[in-house]
Amino acid sequence: MILVTGGAGFIGANFVLDWLAQSDEPVLNLDKLTYAGNPENLASLQGDSRYLFVQGDIGDAPLVERLLAQHQPRAVINFAAESHVDRSIHGPEDFIQTNVVGTMRLLQSVRAYWQALTDAQRIEFRFLHVSTDEVYGSLSPTDPAFTEGNKLEPNSPYSASKAASDHLVRAWLHTYGLPVLTTNCSNNYGPLHFPEKLIPLIIVNALAGKPLPVYGDGLQVRDWLYVKDHCSAIRRVLAAGRVGEIYNVGGWNEKPNIEIVKTICTLLDELRPKSDGSSYQTQITYVQDRPGHDRRYAIDASKIERELGWKPAETFATGIRKTVQWYLDNQDWVTHVQSGAYRDWVQTNYAGRG
Ligand code: NAD
Ligand code: DAU
Repeated sequence: MILVTGGAGFIGANFVLDWLAQSDEPVLNLDKLTYAGNPENLASLQGDSRYLFVQGDIGDAPLVERLLAQHQPRAVINFAAESHVDRSIHGPEDFIQTNVVGTMRLLQSVRAYWQALTDAQRIEFRFLHVSTDEVYGSLSPTDPAFTEGNKLEPNSPYSASKAASDHLVRAWLHTYGLPVLTTNCSNNYGPLHFPEKLIPLIIVNALAGKPLPVYGDGLQVRDWLYVKDHCSAIRRVLAAGRVGEIYNVGGWNEKPNIEIVKTICTLLDELRPKSDGSSYQTQITYVQDRPGHDRRYAIDASKIERELGWKPAETFATGIRKTVQWYLDNQDWVTHVQSGAYRDWVQTNYAGRG
């Protein structure tokens, strides 16, 4: 079996669902269920004997050690993290605690487990760390896309905490020999995306008749990858990645934020036209920029394509249409995640932005 951490969040839940749709190898999901963890994401697996959920912290060493000893996974895939840049600006503490201290403790627990395996099991074992392109910092408009050889130059508390975790993973290979793999992926989007992040926030706010907040001039560039394509990349790296290597994962899909927002509006105009005939674009509102906002990310994904034969299946046009349709079809999911904690966050982040 495999142990997935953070499997109740956006990417982790998509990963678990895709994994069990393609394989009968069981999954143990260890998730703390922070505001971002939503067991409803995996409700379709209730009663499925291949799936086991445990609520807990990656930093709880006795718990993790017990789970490893009991379930004997052949791999650990670490999705668990605090993941939202704006939250890290308002309160970095949780990011250091989970992304740095939590990752270190998880590595220690996994190392102890791995060292006690038989020779054959030790050779087969993998620890796959799911990281982000944000660790590389910000690009100018003419810079080449990030390769795996780029220096780590993180600019936000979030990306600094992820860069620290990437360094820890590297150190556990070099110092202890733990067979690790790291993926650094660009911005994901798709089903089950928590509506604090740009794409789901814009869809949800548009449908609610609320302003569509665009930070600064809206010309910041991100590379967007449909979440199922990120999941297929992780499966591929787990199956065939070379131990100790880093693999950049991206969609070759650089777009300025304002273009993303306008594309969503155009799709909603087609799929759920407003009764007064106006476009959702009339709701676009420019607001104060994110402090330290990285201007551009771009991923050079040629290594994973060349070495492992991975390519994204979706274009941005097909992926964003599926995503908008998913939110239209799953309004109950949206209502359920809009808990009190979520409403408090909206107040903290947007009050005073003007
Ligand atoms: P998310 O915030 O949606 O989910 C994170 C999950 O981790 C939640 O279920 C949460 O409950 C769980 N968690 C948090 N702290 C924990 C802890 N201490 N112990 C156990 N579980 C804990 O995040 P996501 O967008 O699904 O991202 C998953 C991973 O992928 C993260 O490591 C993130 O840095 C990375 N990543 C995300 C993106 C993206 O665009 N979302 C892109 C590249 C990489
Ligand atoms: O690049 C990968 C990263 O992508 C992941 O590591 C992070 O976990 C994930 O959250 C995401 O980070 P971003 O900061 O790029 O994503 P977010 O959706 O928060 O913002 C995308 C862009 O849109 C960014 O330039 C900020 C802008 N934005 C965001 C929000 C929430 C707005 O203009 N308005 C908004 O209200």
